[in-house]
Amino acid sequence: MESTVQVSERLVRALLASVSQAILGTDREGEIVLVNNSAQEMFGYTRDELLGSSIELLLPEARRAAHKLERSAYFDHPHTRPMGIGMDLAGRRKDGSEFPVEVSLSFIESPEGVFGIAFVTDISQRKALEQQLMHAQKMEAVGRLAGGVAHDFNNMLTVISGYNRMILDDLPPSSELRGYLEETLKAADRAASITSQLLAFSRRQVMQPAVVDVNHIISHAEKMLRRLIGEDVVLELSLADGLNPIRADPNHLEQAIVNLAVNARDAMPAGGRLRIHTTAVTLDGDFARTHPALSPGPFLRIDVSDTGQGMDAATVAHIFEPFFTTKERGKGTGLGLATVYGMVRQTGGDVQVTSQPGNGSTFHLYFPTVMEPASETPERLSAAAGPGFETVMVVEDDAAVREFTARVLRQLGYQVLTASGGDEAIRISDAHPGEIAALVTDVIMPGISGRVVADELIRRRPGIKVLFLSGYTGDVIADHNVLETGVDFLAKPFRLEDLAIKLREVLDRP
Ligand SMILES: Nc1ncnc2c1ncn2[C@@H]1O[C@H](COP(=O)(O)OP(=O)(O)O)[C@@H](O)[C@H]1O
Ligand SMILES: [Mg+2]
Repeated sequence: MESTVQVSERLVRALLASVSQAILGTDREGEIVLVNNSAQEMFGYTRDELLGSSIELLLPEARRAAHKLERSAYFDHPHTRPMGIGMDLAGRRKDGSEFPVEVSLSFIESPEGVFGIAFVTDISQRKALEQQLMHAQKMEAVGRLAGGVAHDFNNMLTVISGYNRMILDDLPPSSELRGYLEETLKAADRAASITSQLLAFSRRQVMQPAVVDVNHIISHAEKMLRRLIGEDVVLELSLADGLNPIRADPNHLEQAIVNLAVNARDAMPAGGRLRIHTTAVTLDGDFARTHPALSPGPFLRIDVSDTGQGMDAATVAHIFEPFFTTKERGKGTGLGLATVYGMVRQTGGDVQVTSQPGNGSTFHLYFPTVMEPASETPERLSAAAGPGFETVMVVEDDAAVREFTARVLRQLGYQVLTASGGDEAIRISDAHPGEIAALVTDVIMPGISGRVVADELIRRRPGIKVLFLSGYTGDVIADHNVLETGVDFLAKPFRLEDLAIKLREVLDRP
């Protein structure tokens, strides 16, 4: 028959072997006399390595001296107490890595003296979740604030610039006040561009969602991306076959990829490699639990990685906040990643980042997939809109919008000349021997305004058609009758289709 002592010893052994906490016993001198399986796993040492070693081995080096003193004090007055609550305690593994822990202490008295027993819980996962939750709450709060401000400002800016235009229209051409008003309009346009990015961040951007074939969008953007990143950066696409489409606004998706590519280029001033990879992933419950923004199910993931300078953890913690930038004044707006974040979250997805200083960065964009055939492809679009063959000139100071517009028009068959401003447009027009059928120009640009460019070109090339683009909603400007009747106008951001149809209409009108 087993004695009661033997039974309880077996029970203790079973408990020691099965608990997930690490249990370590030490004597007064700190020598480890007892370890369980979890202790070996948690710290990466074998039982033999641990037994006989000093308990301080398992602490970060900076903590060891203080711990010795605390240990002596504890053994002078041993008591049972939970530790680590509200304190940042850390353990140190054999490989030198540290991890956050919670420790409770107990003791037993025996004929050989007092032994301390430490119960150690690895709280890395809990800490990580806490941080994610805090981060999500912070982004939510910033998003609400930014979205609220942007929404109200957008309305006010519309009024400011609408009335400005009306005044401008009533002023005689010789009035000195015109210059002031044009400056005001330019400032209002810049402000509107900031508010629209803030709206994107706060997921209040107006979406024109379609069922989108992501690979298609990326392949079509390839040429523009190559030009954007320059010759020193190699672009590598690796697009998986047979991906299900996602529901997103194709223009926003393209803009997000452009923003990531521009950042990658900025992070590789001496050149490098930009890789865009698409893949299908099924997220399981475990993944979803550790990524609160995502629910389990089928996703499409776009990974955008660069071989650039990378980021430290402190930078990564802030990159999605609007206006966070590490770039010098005038170089960065800090709105690129904020709009990427808003765009992806608006589709029900999420963005994750992995990066290390000196080791490049990868942005993982998760989008929930849908089981429908992709709706909008540029082929179908050109069929609906009618192809073109004429030469058109695109004048736009924003490089991304200019490239995008030119690319769409080339796809439709147009010959496209591009200029980044009015002076350049006039120079190119003067140097171009053939016909230019239409001018597609931004209304408000630094330097010469779109309207002046149009007047100049009409003077030089009577019969040239003009299509104006502006960051302002067409309705409002039309309501205020700001542009005189007979002027063709398209509000930014426009859909590919709108541009194609509108331009065709303008060109075909007698
Ligand atoms: N690919 C990248 N490599 C290194 N740092 C990056 C990368 N992308 C973004 N960052 C960091 O995130 C910050 C915010 O990016 P973003 O929102 O696009 O604003 P901006 O580019 O105007 O600074 C950047 O200033 C930079 O510090
Ligand atoms: Mg940027």
